[in-house]
Amino acid sequence: MADSRAIGVFDSGLGGLTVVRELIRRNPYEDIVYFGDTGRVPYGTRSRDTIKKYAAEDERFLLKHDVKLIIAACGTVSSVAADAAGCLPVPFFEMVTHAARAAVNATRNRKIGVIGTTATVISGSHKKEILKLLPEAEVSAGSCPLFVPLVESGWYGEDDIVVLETVKRYLAPIISAGCDTLILGCTHYPVLEGAIRRVTEGNITLINPGVAVSEAVSEFIKRNALENSNNGTGIHNFYVSDKPDSFKAQASVLLGEELDDSRVKQVDLSTL
Ligand code: DGL
Repeated sequence: MADSRAIGVFDSGLGGLTVVRELIRRNPYEDIVYFGDTGRVPYGTRSRDTIKKYAAEDERFLLKHDVKLIIAACGTVSSVAADAAGCLPVPFFEMVTHAARAAVNATRNRKIGVIGTTATVISGSHKKEILKLLPEAEVSAGSCPLFVPLVESGWYGEDDIVVLETVKRYLAPIISAGCDTLILGCTHYPVLEGAIRRVTEGNITLINPGVAVSEAVSEFIKRNALENSNNGTGIHNFYVSDKPDSFKAQASVLLGEELDDSRVKQVDLSTL
């Protein structure tokens, strides 16, 4: 058996591309439909009800593209709106449980840091999952509200003084808590991995949820014989809810593949 339908991925903007990058690396034959809600980013400063509403609309959009599974490539949605997944007609993957497992496997001193959006940190989602797996863990969580606008503006160079200073300030409590492992709990944050690594001087193991989730998805596809049997390279189509120009430019850098106009299309939010 095989399934040639695409994998559906959504995020509030560019961040989910860190998941797509890992997904393509492990599943080069799979087609992907990506929706980035660039017209309404950020999600992480909004109320739970608004995030749930947006997530439901994003999922509906992907279902219209007949996807075989959906990945909420957004730490915020995964933290506050993953419970709605039970109503979806296709399998659903979120970012929190897989990242928590990877962090628990990586830590040696049981001190785990989590950074994410305000909504993610308030939800305590990562802490709950970590403590289920490792009750004696000490979890230090902090929100980094400036990271998403930095990434969306293309400011992520590891030599950029503004980026480095911002990272330094947000990570100070995690470093002084002695964490040996840090979950990058928002999918935008792996874009800042170079700067984060510089600030932490390589002393903290960074957990990129995109790696953990794409491994879980690959395994699921194989186990359930859902692979795309067309042997060619997968087709990747991107949809955004604001003008595509800056998304296209940043996406090409983040994915390492040129995205021309035919691959990035704008969707009218009122049709979601
Ligand atoms: N990349 C998303 C996340 O993982 C959303 C950031 C935002 O929209 O605030 O949380």
